[in-house]
Amino acid sequence: MATTVSAPRRRAEEFRIHEDVPSTADTEMNEDVVHGEEEEEAEPVEEAEEQETDDDGSDDEASVDSNTQLDMEKLQNSFPGFRNKYRLIKRIGEGTFSTVYKAEDLQYDYYDNSWDLDKENEKWTPPPLKRTDYSTQHTSQTLDHAQRSAQTLGHSSATLDYMQHREQPRRRPKYVAIKKIYVTSSPTRILNELELLHDLRDCQAVCPLITAFRHTDQVVAILPYFRHTDFREYFRKMTVPDMAIYLRSLFTALSYVHHKGIIHRDIKPTNFLYDPTSQRGVLVDFGLAEREGTECKPCLCHDDPNVRRSRLRAAHLAGTGPHNGYPKQDTRPSRRANRAGTRGFRAPEVLFKCTEQTTKIDIWSAGVILLTILSRRFPFFNSADDVEAMIEIATIFGHRRMRAAGQLHGCMFETTIPTIGNVGFSFERIILWSTCRSDDREGLSKDEKMAVEFLARCMDLDPSRRISAVEALDHPFLMMGMDETIEGTGETEEDEMDIIKVQDHA
Ligand SMILES: Nc1ncnc2c1ncn2[C@@H]1O[C@H](COP(=O)(O)OP(=O)(O)O)[C@@H](O)[C@H]1O
Ligand SMILES: [Mg+2]
Repeated sequence: MATTVSAPRRRAEEFRIHEDVPSTADTEMNEDVVHGEEEEEAEPVEEAEEQETDDDGSDDEASVDSNTQLDMEKLQNSFPGFRNKYRLIKRIGEGTFSTVYKAEDLQYDYYDNSWDLDKENEKWTPPPLKRTDYSTQHTSQTLDHAQRSAQTLGHSSATLDYMQHREQPRRRPKYVAIKKIYVTSSPTRILNELELLHDLRDCQAVCPLITAFRHTDQVVAILPYFRHTDFREYFRKMTVPDMAIYLRSLFTALSYVHHKGIIHRDIKPTNFLYDPTSQRGVLVDFGLAEREGTECKPCLCHDDPNVRRSRLRAAHLAGTGPHNGYPKQDTRPSRRANRAGTRGFRAPEVLFKCTEQTTKIDIWSAGVILLTILSRRFPFFNSADDVEAMIEIATIFGHRRMRAAGQLHGCMFETTIPTIGNVGFSFERIILWSTCRSDDREGLSKDEKMAVEFLARCMDLDPSRRISAVEALDHPFLMMGMDETIEGTGETEEDEMDIIKVQDHA
């Protein structure tokens, strides 16, 4: 058995993820952990809708439900001393690969918190008159508990330091998100996610990794908690300037991620946490991310158009190129490409199994988010598999453009589906229809037209012509996002709520 040691908080040095240290009696692995099959990396990874329950309701200990309590026990069993470090508050997300909890960082003052963006602006609020009583009471209970744990675990010096901090008047609680990665995830995948997060530590628009713990096959990543609202609650109410601000924030994150040569691969609303009040957003979930060029094989799309044409012609003549229809005895070697991502957000080159995918796949997905907002429909694409996804895209773009898109990657796109016309429909018409407006009477506003022009640059079927994140930041639509950004007030709604709650306790 092994216990865990946390890596030091974010600093510029090499990232150490986990070390096993000699066991203690308190470190038994959870017995109910399921050992499942590892997922295959190259296979499509589809995510069920993540269930967010982040309503920022009551945070007090009394409200912690029994399941969360149970999870806390399990974490404490795996990671001794966990209880002294974090207080689990509630489950905030359940994705395909993890369960995420909101927790209070009990040892915040004990560490270097360079990751904390709000630290600079932090204002100390004088404690309300009767709060001292509560704090003392609360602190002495925690102290008592910590002392007991420290004695049991033999961690006295660190814990005592921590306890001294706890004796000071209670500051505003600091929250973290604890991402408990399912043990069925492959170790390579987990390591990849943590390493990429470490590489991206200097980008404010990417949620940084504070530290990580491992105990046998259980890994938990600790991230700063980012207050956000469920996309479904605000996207229908967004004005065009709101959209511009949202996308500016997303593209700022993407420009940094792409500059580092990293493809996120899973851009979608649940992985971009956005707070409409402060108009700040952070990118999370690098579980499917990869470095551009990893396991790539040359694809025709990177060739010069003339070279591509002659290669396609040669392949066609040799009988190995694209066929009309589907051959009964297909002797062509099957094509393998990374198709990881989420249904409805996959770029056409992913669907065509391009073997040389680039950061542009993220731009397409960001475009799908914008299309969702402009059309007020979520999910906009609702395909069950990749073939249906191609049909959906082909319905918009038309047979002709879709066929050209396939040929970029050496694929032939053929269909007899009557709803797929030759030329498809413009984004403008689609948005008018989906928002129940008729094109002749009430067309799109000037701002919407600018957004649609930007959308077309993001959702270009040809990745080489698609706008890059850096170019996007100079686009007039995203520039609108710069003019409109409101000044951060420093104090957030949640902070205010926390103060009110403490007063209520008094
Ligand atoms: N730092 C964070 N702050 C607040 N909520 C978070 C944070 N990280 C993740 N979450 C919540 O947990 C959900 C799942 O997290 P994510 O990293 O996307 O895991 P998965 O790989 O399982 O999809 C997110 O959609 C979000 O609601
Ligand atoms: Mg996710």
